[in-house]
Amino acid sequence: MTPARDEAVRRLAGEAWRARCTIEREAAERFDRLADRLVGAGFPAALSALARRSSRDERRHAALCAVEAARREVPVADGAAQPAEIAPAGLGAREAALYEVVAACCVTETESMSVLTTLLACEVQPPLRPVLRELARDEVRHARLGWACLAHASGRGESAFLSPLVPAMLAGAAPPDLFEDVGGERDDPALLHHGVLPHRLKREVFVETLTQVIAPGLASLGVDPAPARAWLAGRAGGR
Ligand SMILES: [Fe+2]
Ligand SMILES: [Fe+2]
Repeated sequence: MTPARDEAVRRLAGEAWRARCTIEREAAERFDRLADRLVGAGFPAALSALARRSSRDERRHAALCAVEAARREVPVADGAAQPAEIAPAGLGAREAALYEVVAACCVTETESMSVLTTLLACEVQPPLRPVLRELARDEVRHARLGWACLAHASGRGESAFLSPLVPAMLAGAAPPDLFEDVGGERDDPALLHHGVLPHRLKREVFVETLTQVIAPGLASLGVDPAPARAWLAGRAGGR
């Protein structure tokens, strides 16, 4: 690899780890907020407790991501990230809490699990392996929180309303240019060594996880996945 390419990959990977740090900080705040909202909306206390524990996990993840960014000479500023309100206006408290936990966990955390699983199957730099394993171990539990909340709602016949709202969750989880061909250094396979998926592979993992894991999971819990599949077809249909 030429020094220029090596430098470009290192910088890009550092920026990706910095972005992850911000996402982890947001997730920490979101899980703390969700813990209160879930208990307030009548979900079982065990699920609220799992959200609280997830918040602590995400703070630890944020620190790990900041270290990886710094190792690649990309500094990360201190500070908390405030998570946006994502539930559509007009939902009741229970529906809004369910929307948020499904978007954050069934969609985002499940996608995140797939990214980590893919990376762990690649030849990443050896010091990264324990970091990725630690992240994966926790993210799988965070994904399960969403599926457990959805199962709880489904058991009471309260999950079907989510079906037409899933495309908005997907749009929130997918990077804005995921379905564009960006080429160049963002598709460099050398990014994998730094624990970062090249753009094209990131898209493949996203689509595979949506079609093979998330859509069937939603369907099994009373959420018709047809709008989610239509959303995907509208973006990936030409591929
Ligand atoms: Fe995390
Ligand atoms: Fe997580």
